[in-house]
Amino acid sequence: MKLEQQRMPAVTNDRFRLHYHLMPPQGWMNDPNGFVYFQGYYHLFYQYHPYGVEWGPMHWGHARSQDLLHWETLPPALAPDSEADESGCFSGSAIVKGNRLFLIYTGHHVPDESKPDDFWQTQNVAVSDDGIHFYKLATNPVIETPPADNSQHFRDPKVFERDGQYYLVLGSQLAATQTGRALLYQSTNLVDWEYQGVITAASTASEAGFMWECPDFFRLNGQDVLLLSPQGIEATEKENLNLYQTSYLAGQFDFQTLDYQHGNLQELDHGHDFYAAQTMLAPDGRRIVVGWMDMWEAEFPEQADGWAGTMTLPRELTWHAGQLCMLPVAEVTQLRTQQVIDEEWHGTKRNLPVPDAQHLELHLHTKLASWQGSQLTLQFQAGDQQLQVTYHKAQHEIIVTRAGQDAQRFAKVQPQVELDLQIWTDTSSVEIFVNHGAAVFSERFYPLSAPEVTLAADAPVTVQLTEYQLH
Ligand code: FRU
Repeated sequence: MKLEQQRMPAVTNDRFRLHYHLMPPQGWMNDPNGFVYFQGYYHLFYQYHPYGVEWGPMHWGHARSQDLLHWETLPPALAPDSEADESGCFSGSAIVKGNRLFLIYTGHHVPDESKPDDFWQTQNVAVSDDGIHFYKLATNPVIETPPADNSQHFRDPKVFERDGQYYLVLGSQLAATQTGRALLYQSTNLVDWEYQGVITAASTASEAGFMWECPDFFRLNGQDVLLLSPQGIEATEKENLNLYQTSYLAGQFDFQTLDYQHGNLQELDHGHDFYAAQTMLAPDGRRIVVGWMDMWEAEFPEQADGWAGTMTLPRELTWHAGQLCMLPVAEVTQLRTQQVIDEEWHGTKRNLPVPDAQHLELHLHTKLASWQGSQLTLQFQAGDQQLQVTYHKAQHEIIVTRAGQDAQRFAKVQPQVELDLQIWTDTSSVEIFVNHGAAVFSERFYPLSAPEVTLAADAPVTVQLTEYQLH
């Protein structure tokens, strides 16, 4: 297939284009890849199909930024043009060694296009000296075959350094039981990799997934955290409701014995649109995570306009009270152009003044002890597009309801004396952070006219309200 002769779709309408999130210049985007800091810039790559608004032969799209908010589009870093990756340059990661940037990614290979499930996957390396032009190693693949007990699902390497050694965590599937697992490899030079074994594995597919995609492994506040995107977990009434999840385990891992003592698998984000998250360590020590703010098999209204997919805001991860919390990176305050509200309000219903409801930052804070009510709702409404965030006091629960099918998503919060909500809207997204990031909901939301924003409670409530207009 001659890729360069294909036509690229053009963006024909900017009604859903976001202002401060990374999205493709045109065409299709999925997973974040290769999130790294190199020579003064944050680099974020992504699964990219430039020649269509749907998933197709994967390239690595590329952008860089100095503040994690304003992204400069660079030429695609990788195209599926070598034997090992001729059906796609799948997800992977990046690391800086000396003055060079190394990308480690999965080459997807389908020998017979009429049988797309008969594929094989290898791990490959590309390098760059300037962070713009990348060269694939002539000796690729660097990992040619999965372990003997693995199925052909063997992808999404995340590279990291620990005590002078390089490691890779890889997503995979145990062939015999068709269950997901994460594998560990070790190297001294990023090119020669030695298989160490299994970090941990799903016990059953329905509980923990038939395939673990996009793993990441890092240490945060004394915890060894394994982030993964499991496919196939059975939904319960209020959990694992998306087609696929991004979840994590936390505990203590021994790199010598591969013993991993960890707690239960927990979802990282409770919204409709969050997948394949990847982290990076910033120069100042922050652990920053970005997810694909969409879901496989969802509707993408922006496809009609020549593009599809966006990333979440970059979020700082912290470990607090036995769980991961995430809040937008501190840089987001730079997006504020004007403060619209800063007041203590008391009442049961209020339409908020919103010069531009699709680009705002909203902060609501209320003391629960003095409030007699049981429900507090913030609502965005534009025609038949509606998104509600409701706090149920007795159940200590947040419910996000987005008009349409499969409407509700849930999160429990710790019983506490105050409720804190922080919300960022961008043209076709709403990101909701509850109690300083203890529960997070990422949502695509597609209003065609300016939404009204209403706050309502079933008994008078006192709320400290802050609102900023954003770029
Ligand atoms: C996750 C995923 C990865 C794969 C990539 C292909 O969304 O399926 O496992 O590498 O997307 O685009």
